[in-house]
Amino acid sequence: MKTETTIQGLSASLNPARAARKIIGFVPTMGNLHEGHLNLVRAARKLCDVVVVSIFVNPIQFGPNEDFDNYPRTLEHDSHLLAEVGCDIVFAPSVEQMYGKQPRLTNISVSEITNDLCGLQRPGHFDGVAVVVTKLFNIVQPNFAFFGQKDYQQLAVIKQLVRDLNMPIEVIGVPITRAEDGLALSSRNGYLSEQERATAPSMYATLQAAEKQLQNGQSLDVVLSNIRQQLTEAGFDVDYVEVRTPMLQKIGQFDQDIVLFVAAKLGKTRLIDNLQVKHST
Ligand code: PAF
Repeated sequence: MKTETTIQGLSASLNPARAARKIIGFVPTMGNLHEGHLNLVRAARKLCDVVVVSIFVNPIQFGPNEDFDNYPRTLEHDSHLLAEVGCDIVFAPSVEQMYGKQPRLTNISVSEITNDLCGLQRPGHFDGVAVVVTKLFNIVQPNFAFFGQKDYQQLAVIKQLVRDLNMPIEVIGVPITRAEDGLALSSRNGYLSEQERATAPSMYATLQAAEKQLQNGQSLDVVLSNIRQQLTEAGFDVDYVEVRTPMLQKIGQFDQDIVLFVAAKLGKTRLIDNLQVKHST
């Protein structure tokens, strides 16, 4: 496995593969990797000849009260994990390498679906993601790019971006990786106290119960309020409980496939999860 820290170095490493028309798979990350990320790399490994993983903590997707400086940077450990799952090239650029010294005058803003769900609490966050992902796509020029369904809104934003701007890339959403007790893997789980960690799996259990209620004919409104109540009783401070279509449009009735979304705090740690619920016709 090679590690490249410059755009030029990465291009030199990838050019032979490009010339040989090899299929390039790309997994963008901010590092601090866990099994969820590794499953993205495994999915890329299955489908592609060459697998590139970027590790870049992107300053412009952090809000003023979000801790960019303290975001864990664990490149050495991440590199060991990536080598084990068959990554070919790690791209780990500096902020200067990605953004240069001149001011950036271009923004990329996917409208509507970013002013919703997590976007409401994090103004500008998805613009920062859209900019860095576009830059990384231009640098890596992959055939396939892999994103986790855990960050469902981010995945939908990237799909929209790729479609709207005719980027020649297929975006693949990889199912959420869960701990044995159902908790969706996230780097934030490490911040949970022992007691909070024991409570956390009830977030997924509540979504699963909601799916059953919907399939038994319960109305969406009642199911959403049940989720909120159960989470509150379990000790969560609920931020939102919402339902959307798979492309994040609002919906009032369970008459097509839907996605249930929750975001809630346990102590200081904000957790999110989602569940896709099929509508059987
Ligand atoms: O999901 C992430 O880790 C980041 O938002 C991404 C896609 C790597 C962009 O910085």
